[in-house]
Amino acid sequence: SFVIGADCVDVNDRACTDVCPVDCIYVGDRKSYINAAECIDCGACEPECPVEAIFVDRTARGDDEKMAFVEDSRAFFSEILPGRSEPLGNPGGARKVGDLGVDTEFVAQYEA
Ligand code: F3S
Ligand code: F3S
Repeated sequence: SFVIGADCVDVNDRACTDVCPVDCIYVGDRKSYINAAECIDCGACEPECPVEAIFVDRTARGDDEKMAFVEDSRAFFSEILPGRSEPLGNPGGARKVGDLGVDTEFVAQYEA
């Protein structure tokens, strides 16, 4: 599965969101997040990112920072985000939920 990593933080360019055929890239405050359950692994997003923030999860093995973003990408959908009453889950499309304007605790506090 594809994951958005550290380089997206405070860039949040969103070029990737325009090309995703299943609209599974959700826009947070400092970065965006791919929903692994909805992603069909087409890879269209990866070359679109101007800061090359998107990677394949299996390439994160042995890289603690990348692994942290793999896990954080799951947490974004499974945990209750600040200001919300329930987990986001798998909404089935980012456009219909709009910009979420919120991040996981990990990303909110992330310093490069
Ligand atoms: Fe982030 Fe790159 Fe997409 S900066 S929002 S992963 S185009
Ligand atoms: Fe979409 Fe990228 Fe997955 S374009 S389907 S998030 S590989």
